[in-house]
Amino acid sequence: MDRIAITGGAQLNGIIPVSGAKNSAIKLMAASLLTDQPLRLTNMPRLADTKFLGKLLTRLGTHVDEREGPDGSETILHAPEITSGFAPYDLVRQMRASFNVLGPLVARTGQAKVSLPGGCTIGARPVDLHLQALEALGAKIDLHEGYVYAQAPRGLKGGEIEFPFVSVGATEHAMLAAVLADGVTVIKNAACEPELLDLQICLNAMGARVEGAGTPTITITGVAKLHGATHSVIPDRIEMGTYAVAAAMAGGEVQLTRSRPELIDSLLVKLEEAGCGVVRTEDGVIIRRNGHRLEAVDVETQPYPGFATDLQAQFMALMTTAKGESRIRETIFENRFMHAPELMRLGADISVSGGEARVRGVERLEGAEVMATDLRASVSLVIAGLVARGETTVSRIYHLDRGFERLEEKLGACGAQVRRIKGEPEDAIDND
Ligand code: EPZ
Repeated sequence: MDRIAITGGAQLNGIIPVSGAKNSAIKLMAASLLTDQPLRLTNMPRLADTKFLGKLLTRLGTHVDEREGPDGSETILHAPEITSGFAPYDLVRQMRASFNVLGPLVARTGQAKVSLPGGCTIGARPVDLHLQALEALGAKIDLHEGYVYAQAPRGLKGGEIEFPFVSVGATEHAMLAAVLADGVTVIKNAACEPELLDLQICLNAMGARVEGAGTPTITITGVAKLHGATHSVIPDRIEMGTYAVAAAMAGGEVQLTRSRPELIDSLLVKLEEAGCGVVRTEDGVIIRRNGHRLEAVDVETQPYPGFATDLQAQFMALMTTAKGESRIRETIFENRFMHAPELMRLGADISVSGGEARVRGVERLEGAEVMATDLRASVSLVIAGLVARGETTVSRIYHLDRGFERLEEKLGACGAQVRRIKGEPEDAIDND
């Protein structure tokens, strides 16, 4: 199993280009199932998760061609025919977003059999809202032996979907299914994450008629057929936020480029409140801290535009050395503090009670061996390692490879001492 070793103490100075967003790319890839023509996605991140979904899509009949284009990495996905409507457990359990092939498969072919994804380390993560959305579109859903059987032999029908609470995945799934439904679909209490708008732009470029993504009400007028398109994946706001926190932690000056600062405004406001220099630029942000200690600030995770749950672990790492006590409330997932005990192995002073962690800043962290428990938790340990005295080694970094492209290279280019220690290949992958 590979590990990452970080020698703490180096400031970060330099430029980090932000990659395309993992959490958008994997939904856009699923959209390729909706047409028999090629979908070309540019600004594609090269990650374990995108590779993984490529493997599943290939099993369903998609030709997946990864190449270097004039503007970086791109992937062309072409599903002239769906050769199988079956997504098996061993593939879906490894990456739960694979479940999002269900809607497009039913929309295009009238049937699908897709494994339920099961839980993951950060929470139970049921898919009941996804299934309710498909039922509202007229699909007949049966559950047997861990599989969802969905059928709509005469096609999906437009309908009204009102979610009881905000779900990013269920909103995306509903959109992916409704674009080919007969009639108008209205999604109420939709998630407003920027990835939803990215999906709308891509689907509309493919000939769909979707309006309102990025607001709580999305209206979709179904069309009979979609066609091929080219779409550039939105910048990864979580990657941008992660490096912003890393710069705030290590000190120095880092410029994040190829992105949009407004995507992480809720984080930038907190960094400013903590005493960090933040300059918003046209294509990103500059983060500056010169030696002084940051002040503790409180955060509470919320759906977009609130503070992202996917930045909570990184922010907790930052608060471990701030002056004072920070309260961090997690409201999206019920078990997303697994990084806390690992940060405590580095000397952090944290107590967790229910959905709240109290982090009392310490003067110094000390390097130790720690273990990644999920994707964002793993990067929070790397961030802590940037300032911990001596060496920190993070194991189980297959989590990290799922969502951070060339992390060692990007941090290393700014002066961080981060290296990968090669180990035996592993096959255990949790599905967060
Ligand atoms: C997406 O997960 C992201 N994943 C997550 O990022 C992110 O943390 C999350 O949205 C929230 O922003 C991808 O985009 C691949 P939800 P998703 O449906 O769609 C409950 C990362 O690190 N729920 O908005 O699965 C659910 O259990 C990952 O990149 C139901 O109860 O999140 C959770 O408590 C981790 N029933 C809450 O809703 C459902 O049918 C929000 O989940 C669906 C969700």
